[in-house]
Amino acid sequence: MPMSETVEMLQAILGTIDEGIHVVDADGITIFYNHVAASLDGLTKEEVLGKPLLEVFPSLDQASSTLLRVIENGEPIVNLPQTYTNLRGVRVDTINTTLPVRVGDTLVGAVEVAKDIRKLRELSERLIDLQVQLGKPKRSKQLASDGISYQFTDILTDNQAMKTLKERAKRAARTSSPVLVYGETGTGKELFVQSIHQASARFGRPFIAQNCAALPASLLESILFGSTKGSFTGADDRPGLFELANGGTLFLDELNSMPLDLQAKLLRVLQDGQIRRIGSEKSVQVDVRVVAAVNEPPLQVVERGGLRADLYYRLNVVSLEIPPLRERPEDIELLTRHFIDKYNRRFGMKVTGIDETVWKRFFAYDWPGNVRELEHLIEAAMNMVDGQTILPEHLPAHFWERASLGGVARTAIPKALPPQAVSVADGIPDGTWNLPEVLRETETSLIARAMQETGGNVKQAASLLGIPRQTLQYKLANLPGLRQ
Ligand SMILES: Nc1ncnc2c1ncn2[C@@H]1O[C@H](COP(=O)(O)OP(=O)(O)O)[C@@H](O)[C@H]1O
Ligand SMILES: [Mg+2]
Repeated sequence: MPMSETVEMLQAILGTIDEGIHVVDADGITIFYNHVAASLDGLTKEEVLGKPLLEVFPSLDQASSTLLRVIENGEPIVNLPQTYTNLRGVRVDTINTTLPVRVGDTLVGAVEVAKDIRKLRELSERLIDLQVQLGKPKRSKQLASDGISYQFTDILTDNQAMKTLKERAKRAARTSSPVLVYGETGTGKELFVQSIHQASARFGRPFIAQNCAALPASLLESILFGSTKGSFTGADDRPGLFELANGGTLFLDELNSMPLDLQAKLLRVLQDGQIRRIGSEKSVQVDVRVVAAVNEPPLQVVERGGLRADLYYRLNVVSLEIPPLRERPEDIELLTRHFIDKYNRRFGMKVTGIDETVWKRFFAYDWPGNVRELEHLIEAAMNMVDGQTILPEHLPAHFWERASLGGVARTAIPKALPPQAVSVADGIPDGTWNLPEVLRETETSLIARAMQETGGNVKQAASLLGIPRQTLQYKLANLPGLRQ
């Protein structure tokens, strides 16, 4: 392809993408500038193309311009957040990457790619403001991130391991040491963390939660540490969450999603309590209790390189491991009754119980979404129920699909099996251990029995078995021994 055509192609491509692109030659003269860059800077292409950078942006100098710095020392600058007011007085928020352009060994220029993050930043800042407002001491009960403030009395459990865990968490509320909470999604991590805050001496101070997976790395950094003026003019200063949470608790959820270099910065803050806003030379002392949560076993995350070992040891001063719901059959029962009460009150209903078939499924199910999933399931059922009992057909189809497609306890067998589960095994001949085989046989004979009972009515049989009609039809067509 001739050179000019390549250039044309490149221009066309770079003209269509969503990022601002600004290329200068080795003398700092702009040789490419797309319309996104122009709209970010509040300029026209013509005002910039072919001109020396410092002439077009008089507020910049050799040191503050990232493009000129890269030309000067040949070092790339990656993912630098920039906040500035452009020449039209519009606030601009970008994340910039500036790279040297070399031909052979010669540096011929530099390219800057600017990603506009205004929308994302506005949203996350609004969230922060809201959290801070909600976290302010009030005469009545305090509110936290989701408008609800949890306390230890809100953590319901009949499970011994959970009771011990609650006691340990209460003790940890007496100090300011970092805490690392591990638990699958929906096990109650946030419940524990808020309870610790509320029971601690920090309870009147802010409780701020930030999910580390919710933001791109560079934005997360400026949200945590704050920002000072970008390398352009009339900048905006903003405190980060560490400053906003001063005196209180900062909850870093899904810490395993935090990039490793940011984890290193976090470790430094944990060690000396000093934070520095991005772009600032000045350190400020903060007094923040950091509580972090991960939803995979922490050591496993360390091993696969998702969590720095040094940070892990620093955070793990107090470690709380919340068992999944499938390992707490007592709690399946307790929480089911609790959520039925809750939605009885909320919906003005009088549901008193749950059908035996549903209980059995509840105990055998693996609850990948844990307590949160159980709560949503009860809420869904309460929307469908007519009388006083929740029946199989009141539960959504997706539950039955998962529950019947091998959605049975994946890992640990509950220490205290419900009595009905144990007695079922009594009917199996001694010496029979092959679980899939037993399950298949049990399934086949139960289905056959249900079909007999209902005189071959698939709909009624499905309801008896507590599975969707489609699932039963599928099984009838596919299970050996049932195929007609
Ligand atoms: N032991 C418990 N008792 C009462 N409610 C619970 C319990 N554990 C979890 N919940 C409820 O389940 C939902 C999920 O809890 P959450 O703390 O947000 O879980 P995670 O942060 O681990 O995903 C919340 O509505 C919480 O109130
Ligand atoms: Mg959570």
